[in-house]
Amino acid sequence: MNPLLKKLQPYPFEKLRALFKGIEPRAGFTPISFGIGEPKHPTPALIRDAVIDSLDGLASYPATLGSEPLRAAIAAWVMQRYGLESIDAATQVLPVSGSREALFALAQTVIDSRTASAAEPPIVLCPNPFYQIYEGAALLAGAEPYFVNSDPARNFACDYSAVPDHIWARTQLLYVCSPGNPTGAVLTLDNWRELFALSDKHGFVIASDECYSEIYFDEGHPPLGGLEAARLLDRGFDRLVMLSSLSKRSNVPGMRSGFVAGDASVLKDFLLYRTYHGAALSTVFQRASVVAWQDETHVRDNRAKYLKKFQTVTPMLADVLDVRLPDAAFYLWANVSGTGLTDTEFAARLYADYNVTVLPGSFLARFAHGTNPGEGFVRIALVAETAECVEGARRIVEFCRSLKS
Ligand SMILES: Cc1ncc(COP(=O)(O)O)c(C=O)c1O
Repeated sequence: MNPLLKKLQPYPFEKLRALFKGIEPRAGFTPISFGIGEPKHPTPALIRDAVIDSLDGLASYPATLGSEPLRAAIAAWVMQRYGLESIDAATQVLPVSGSREALFALAQTVIDSRTASAAEPPIVLCPNPFYQIYEGAALLAGAEPYFVNSDPARNFACDYSAVPDHIWARTQLLYVCSPGNPTGAVLTLDNWRELFALSDKHGFVIASDECYSEIYFDEGHPPLGGLEAARLLDRGFDRLVMLSSLSKRSNVPGMRSGFVAGDASVLKDFLLYRTYHGAALSTVFQRASVVAWQDETHVRDNRAKYLKKFQTVTPMLADVLDVRLPDAAFYLWANVSGTGLTDTEFAARLYADYNVTVLPGSFLARFAHGTNPGEGFVRIALVAETAECVEGARRIVEFCRSLKS
């Protein structure tokens, strides 16, 4: 068997199951889960209808490149969303089966492990905390993940200036996540300027995971995207690709529809890899995706629901925890250290006493540079409907107050 598989870490939800093993939640409370970051709002009727209307597509193999109408719809969306004058739908856009598989497959395409000795494998730079796929993708590509801790004092920005030159020299791929999971932080134009300068100097590819880009709280200020930053800095897309997805934007995580856009030469090799990888998006879902990317009404409605939820729940929790409205995405990243409990103790006791599930931050980060930057935090995914989120928040408030009495 592939020995690299042994390097993979258990997924955060496996760690959570282990943490909760043997705990019987107190009777009288229905379960409320803020654990898994899976969108729960209903899928819009126009997308469901488009799926049904496209069922004859089951009779054909989908093209890895995606259909021309889908690439055109994505290109139009990207141009409109990021203010680009043009993007070539034929060479700079590629539909994928959700951003997760693409984040993974991209590392298999980009990493050249022959360039290094076994003692010094290529490096994939990851934010810390981070989405665990980055680490697994790096390890299975024969690379080594190098974690750059995010700093709560600088809105969770990563300190790239602390990365030594010998690490940059081995870096072939850098993942960023903006809006970030779990912190919700959005990279600023200055952050991008720094990253582009580093990529231009050291030659690594930037993979910008932007799957939460359409969940934000101020209609006038959508999160800055990587391609948009490149435009604003007059840079072009060299060694830059962004990944996006309909899962959160349109409440269709089961459709597995996303795209990668940016540097045409990276996408050319990615397409070749994908021809063998065999993860082409079903024709049925390609057609429904065209409808989804062409409609913004359902996306605005979706945002309005999240806004209402966050405006209600955040102040409730801010009374008892160090937490504030994030830049974007659907998580609250709450500092629980003021309660006197560790993040794992907090999660376990909250589950036992109130049947509410939150994810300990330390499960979403690695110990690096003397610390685990997720420690002391919990991730609260506000994905359920408002009434359930409010009830969960009410229980968390009661729980925190009970700790003080
Ligand atoms: C940061 C991040 N990236 C990517 C994904 C994958 O999303 P999808 O494959 O549905 O596009 C997720 C899913 O939760 C995520 O949290």
